[in-house]
Amino acid sequence: MKIIKAESAGFCFGVKRAVDTVYEEIEKGGRIYTYGEIIHNDEVVRDLEEKGVKVIRNEEELRAINEGTVIIRSHGVPREIYEILEKKENVKTVDATCPFVLKIHKTVSEESEKGREIIIIGDKDHPEVVGIISFSGSAVSCIRSEAEADSYVDSTGRSKCIVAQTTFNLRKFNNIVEILNKKCYDVHTVNTICNATEQRQTEALEIASLADAMIVIGGRHSSNTRKLYEICSERCADTRFIQTVDDLDIDSLKDVNCVGITAGASTPNYIIEEVQKHVRGTDF
Ligand code: F3S
Repeated sequence: MKIIKAESAGFCFGVKRAVDTVYEEIEKGGRIYTYGEIIHNDEVVRDLEEKGVKVIRNEEELRAINEGTVIIRSHGVPREIYEILEKKENVKTVDATCPFVLKIHKTVSEESEKGREIIIIGDKDHPEVVGIISFSGSAVSCIRSEAEADSYVDSTGRSKCIVAQTTFNLRKFNNIVEILNKKCYDVHTVNTICNATEQRQTEALEIASLADAMIVIGGRHSSNTRKLYEICSERCADTRFIQTVDDLDIDSLKDVNCVGITAGASTPNYIIEEVQKHVRGTDF
């Protein structure tokens, strides 16, 4: 059996930086909190919990904290969260927001100040998008599909600035922008899909076109992993979404000639390696 593993599988730069930051802060000691789970990966979150790291689930829990270190994860947070943290004298804030996300915050803030209406192509409920929305000085529209773009009505006629959730599907983004360009006047589009996502998606698509079965590894709640699964399924009908090696039905791969493996940005390397070893080591 041939196995093709995507080189871009696993932690992206921003996620690695955020996870490393938490481990570094643990070494320094004191009470450590992360605002939300640091990444969408149960294994990593469990390991951190065992080392004493607590997850703050909402604003109310954050308000109740009066000491320790609060780490902001790579998705970023809404402006209000920074404001709450700034007022806490005995709480140290470590901002591990990915620089690519911070750049979107800046773009949205500046463009809305110039009077442009902001359109975010992404999922309005995703924490990254919730954060981005808060940096706009005026109302924001969120669009996540071609169908939503089709039904979008430009009620203000104002010039627009379009940005994207960093992990959005590039092909879908281009389609949506094309639709909006026909409907709106003076559109300034900033493709904020990050390179890591683009590379991962392109490579996944290439491998899925060659493979008879495709394994996508990632956390249940990881939106970038779900998107990878979507992309791979388009090219390879036998695409599987697993969280760890335990979810893999190895027997069902016995008649397969070529297996492709990729993983979302929040999947640690050791989990990818375990899956790869298990597939390679199985003697059918
Ligand atoms: Fe940053 Fe891109 Fe990862 S925006 S968190 S490097 S997917």
